[in-house]
Amino acid sequence: MERIVLPDIPNLNQIDVYLTNGGFESFKKALSQSPDDIIDQVKKSGLRGRGGAAFSAGLKWSFMPKTTDKPKYLCINGDESEPGSFKDRQVFEDNPFQLIEGAIITCYAIGAKVAYLYIRGEYHKWIKLMQKAIEVAYDRGFLGESMKKTFGNDFSCDLYIHKGAGAYICGEESSLMNSIEGYRGYPRVKPPFPAQKGLWGCPTTINNVETITNVPKIISNGWEWYSKIGAQKHPGTLLYGISGHVNKPGVYELPTGILLTDLIFNTASGIPNNKKVKCVIPGGSSMPPLRGDQLEGIRMDAESLKEAGSAIGIGGVMVMDEDTNLLKVLIRITHFYHHESCGQCTPCREGTGWMEKTLHRILEGNGTSKDLDLLISVAENIEGNTVCALGDAAAWPVKFMIQRFRDEFEQYVKNEVTIPVPNKVHSMRNTSAPLANLHK
Ligand SMILES: Cc1cc2nc3c(=O)[nH]c(=O)nc-3n(C[C@H](O)[C@H](O)[C@H](O)COP(=O)(O)O)c2cc1C
Ligand code: SF4
Repeated sequence: MERIVLPDIPNLNQIDVYLTNGGFESFKKALSQSPDDIIDQVKKSGLRGRGGAAFSAGLKWSFMPKTTDKPKYLCINGDESEPGSFKDRQVFEDNPFQLIEGAIITCYAIGAKVAYLYIRGEYHKWIKLMQKAIEVAYDRGFLGESMKKTFGNDFSCDLYIHKGAGAYICGEESSLMNSIEGYRGYPRVKPPFPAQKGLWGCPTTINNVETITNVPKIISNGWEWYSKIGAQKHPGTLLYGISGHVNKPGVYELPTGILLTDLIFNTASGIPNNKKVKCVIPGGSSMPPLRGDQLEGIRMDAESLKEAGSAIGIGGVMVMDEDTNLLKVLIRITHFYHHESCGQCTPCREGTGWMEKTLHRILEGNGTSKDLDLLISVAENIEGNTVCALGDAAAWPVKFMIQRFRDEFEQYVKNEVTIPVPNKVHSMRNTSAPLANLHK
């Protein structure tokens, strides 16, 4: 299968190699058509966002106003902070010019003159690599004013890197825009959506790095070609990042819709020591986990995973073998979301902390069966009740892990507990601790 985002071409990260392999020809082709034609082709190709929600890229672009006095912006999301996600940095490393070409085609289609590439601050190596690639593109006339001469067209645009300071919440699109504007990474209430009121109050489109890197091939090979790859309703390839208990973890580009079991047992060469799979999170740590004994027939695309009770997310497949302590896994995941909550809304700020504390209490042997129901209830009260989707991201692992692996969690709880003195205040609710014990 031909790889779209990470083609198997040595040294493709060198501009001359990229040019020899058709680099910037897609942009030339795009310039010979109207921006609306480009949006239409991307829409028809079926390209869906690779940043988590799998929303139609072309449809998103079409929301940008056609007539406005305000400048328009493109933000490319390379924050990549979800545990289990490590695919976008592979693009920075191996195919930076296709990302740049995708960016200028997108700018042309939506009418933006400026694009920002947002990269998490700790990713020094990738920031340096991308900075170098952008400088080369400027030098060779593929970015900035000199594009006009290179391509013999009036269109030009600039591309800047914006470094984050290392916060997961800055990957959320409205928070990302606040961060670029120099403010704290706080998500904004939507509506208004970014296409109406984005960066500095101007129309803005936000897309993931992998989404944008697909665009040049859609333009050069045509939307029909793209729409026939992989799953019909979620076409193309995905950069699957496979981690955890597999023999060959890594980033693999394969079509959407492949079997999850194929990915684990063939692509990633199975589980060390032939152990059984206990649990798989198919799309990054925020997505609902699946039971290892129920993986048969599950396909890796947005629609199939929805049917299976999970979601494709960013395609980060986390595999856990039969020896994994899921309570400890859940504590680790919950700690992450608690730590990364921006604190703006109460259900997320307080609920993530309650869940973490309750899980710790269970681990310490002071939990009852009721605590498991309490955890699900707290998760359900966070879900859907917050400004941004970090709330759901924190709630889903707790809710679904406990529901789907209740047998495992029951092993850690008792019918009754006597609450130890240091934990008294925080542990009183929903335990059957005799009142007298509290006065000891
Ligand atoms: C807490 C949180 C973190 C996110 N982090 C990222 C990220 O690191 N990269 C990304 O592309 N999208 C991330 N998203 C999704 C973005 O808000 C946005 O939907 C996405 O960048 C749109 O691009 P796409 O349509 O190409 O997928 C995050 C969302 C939330 C709620
Ligand atoms: S859901 Fe959490 S991270 Fe998102 S705005 Fe509310 S408090 Fe902040």
